[in-house]
Amino acid sequence: MAINNVMTGDFLRSAYGGESMAHMRYLIWGEDAEKKGLPNIGRLFKAVANAEWVHAKNHFNVLKDEVGDSGVCAGAVFGNTDVSSNLQGAINGELHEVNQMYPVYLETAKFQAEKDAERSFHYALEAEKIHAQLFKDAQEKAKQGQDIGTDKIYVCPVCGYTEIGDNVDKCPVCGTKKEMFESF
Ligand SMILES: [Fe+2]
Ligand SMILES: [Fe+2]
Repeated sequence: MAINNVMTGDFLRSAYGGESMAHMRYLIWGEDAEKKGLPNIGRLFKAVANAEWVHAKNHFNVLKDEVGDSGVCAGAVFGNTDVSSNLQGAINGELHEVNQMYPVYLETAKFQAEKDAERSFHYALEAEKIHAQLFKDAQEKAKQGQDIGTDKIYVCPVCGYTEIGDNVDKCPVCGTKKEMFESF
């Protein structure tokens, strides 16, 4: 894999930074939800943290031949108060990725004929759409002081596709077989 265009490279580095921070933030918020008696929302945060790690890894590996230091500027969400507010932070971050960041990054990669970056941005965009909805559903419960259900949460190790329960035999985004999925 190699990158031929500066702008796609910058977008990959920024997306790597954003996904890395989302990964860490969701682990923190997941631990917090567990401590506050909502272990299944905690599990959702941990599963989605894994998906963000998959995205960070994909972006990083598209850049694997770009050896050296770089300043990285990326969006971050801060705060750790109640679980519902943390979920709102998560929803805001995901919607920023879905409505602003990844569509622009994806079009840039297409325009610059950066096939590997295009795939990496496409995978992330599709997963973030699902994450936004999963966090919205969880927030509805949290607002009533309730936890989500105990169904297993699955994450595709190739693209970060995330689902609650057993709904598919293979990843609808990248085609990876269900038995390869991580479960939480
Ligand atoms: Fe996400
Ligand atoms: Fe996938």
